[in-house]
Amino acid sequence: MEVRPCRDRDEFTRALYGIFQYFGPTPGDDVIDRWIGLVGAERMHAAFEDGEIVGGAGVFTFDLSVPGGSLPCAGVTVVGVYPTHRRRGVLREMMDAQLADIHERGEPIAALWASEETIYGRFGYGIASWCGDVAIPRDRSAFGRPFERRGQVRAVTVDEAVELFPPVWEALRAQRTGVFARTETWWRERVVRTPDEQKATPKRLVALEIDDEVQAYAVYETTAAFEGFVSNAKLDVVEAVGANPQATAEIWRYLLDVDWMATINAALIPPDHPLFLLLANPRHARFKRHDALWVRLVDVGAALSGRAYTGEGSVVFEVADATCPWNEGRWKLEGGTASRTDEPAELALDVDALGSAYLGAVSFAQLREAMRVEELAEGAIGRADALFEWRPLPWCPEIF
Ligand SMILES: CC(C)(COP(=O)(O)OP(=O)(O)OC[C@H]1O[C@@H](n2cnc3c(N)ncnc32)[C@H](O)[C@@H]1OP(=O)(O)O)[C@@H](O)C(=O)NCCC(=O)NCCS
Repeated sequence: MEVRPCRDRDEFTRALYGIFQYFGPTPGDDVIDRWIGLVGAERMHAAFEDGEIVGGAGVFTFDLSVPGGSLPCAGVTVVGVYPTHRRRGVLREMMDAQLADIHERGEPIAALWASEETIYGRFGYGIASWCGDVAIPRDRSAFGRPFERRGQVRAVTVDEAVELFPPVWEALRAQRTGVFARTETWWRERVVRTPDEQKATPKRLVALEIDDEVQAYAVYETTAAFEGFVSNAKLDVVEAVGANPQATAEIWRYLLDVDWMATINAALIPPDHPLFLLLANPRHARFKRHDALWVRLVDVGAALSGRAYTGEGSVVFEVADATCPWNEGRWKLEGGTASRTDEPAELALDVDALGSAYLGAVSFAQLREAMRVEELAEGAIGRADALFEWRPLPWCPEIF
């Protein structure tokens, strides 16, 4: 088997068919064009057997917000092996080649959304954030405290949205870890455009202006329905982002107040979203938590040195990493920099556990409870947690 980056559109298409064996209809030319525009042929690995492509694995070239900054990040996407070639090691070969390529390009971290939780841990990815769905009955959507309204929400066109929404997203990136930077093409193709097959429920775009400045936006869809002649309509929030607490509360009040809706649904909500403290009846939102972004430290030294820390002190890690052996061994984190050391190890763990702790969503104390880290020096868990803790929690508002 040979695994290498695609050289042209035809190879890209056949590699992309790997994932489309499982999701939706076979992509037409317009869909292929969009994927190749966003990924680039050179960032799509294809697996060849006897000259035939039997799988593909792609990467979006991202910058991801991490504690105290932003780092180049490989956003792993469209991973698929043809069902005729499953469980023969095709994915493993593609992951090896892709991680080597990411390392060579100098991207210290990789991130992905997993279709199944059982696939990526073996390749060094760890659950690095949580999110969940809410389904808020409109008649249980009141806020718990008096809320002084500010600003005005207005509907905007696709072209306006592409101008007005990005600064709000950038404000989110400055506040939360786990948010990737978006290009204008990304905004157009993936966020605000209504794909042809979804024309029945067009994306509705609104911006909130306070003091002549757009401070929040929402993308949502509505579906009309009746049950026993009573409205059972739903509003599905695709994305609702505010640049500050007032703007976030305002845009949510707008969404929760749209007439005729029975339920307001939203997915990918982080567990510390302000909504849970704004609502008078948060229980009725029926929050269901699941794993969100997974993170892989491709270059442990650069990744650890590339984020900020809260406390003082140092800690020495013994890292095990079978897939990226250049990470193996002892690393001392001190003064915000990680470097090689011969000092005795204080915490021993696999690289996926370090990925889980990286954005601040999983503590070392939690990892110890789950037997994913070994404390070799007394107090090291507490010291590591004092360094790594980061609030608010990570939030990646879009599946890629
Ligand atoms: C998931 C998928 C890519 C795996 O490809 P594959 O070529 O069959 O995987 P490999 O043969 O290289 O397996 C490597 C290892 O992962 C394990 N593995 C692979 N897929 C797994 C799964 N879905 N659940 C649990 N373990 C899995 C294999 O058992 C093997 O384990 P081992 O190293 O202990 O022997 C393939 O099944 C697929 O295309 N699935 C549908 C699309 C999809 O979910 N893609 C991921 C998008 S995020």
